[in-house]
Amino acid sequence: MRFQLTEETAIAGIMYFEGQRLPFRAGDTVASALLVAGIDFFRVTPLSGATRAPYCLMGICYECLVSINGADNQRACQVLAEHDMFISRQTGARVDAMAVPPVMTSRSLR
Ligand code: FES
Repeated sequence: MRFQLTEETAIAGIMYFEGQRLPFRAGDTVASALLVAGIDFFRVTPLSGATRAPYCLMGICYECLVSINGADNQRACQVLAEHDMFISRQTGARVDAMAVPPVMTSRSLR
């Protein structure tokens, strides 16, 4: 499925996905903004190397894990997009499970 921004949906800001500038709308989660941009997978599993993309979009499946502003293991469907966020795919397991706290912002869905 492919989504598109229309002229009726105002762009609220720009975030970056692996160096690519991506617009998002007010209220978009990171996952919804990436899906609208046509990003087809968000992470690569540590064991098999299979690609994964969001499945539940409600924080249950963890298939949407990405790195946000350098913090790994962030559920893209649970974090609201913010201007100047830097997002990258998560490939394999995160380096240090306890060193990087989750992204908590005033706009977080948690
Ligand atoms: S899509 Fe399932 S936790 Fe994000």
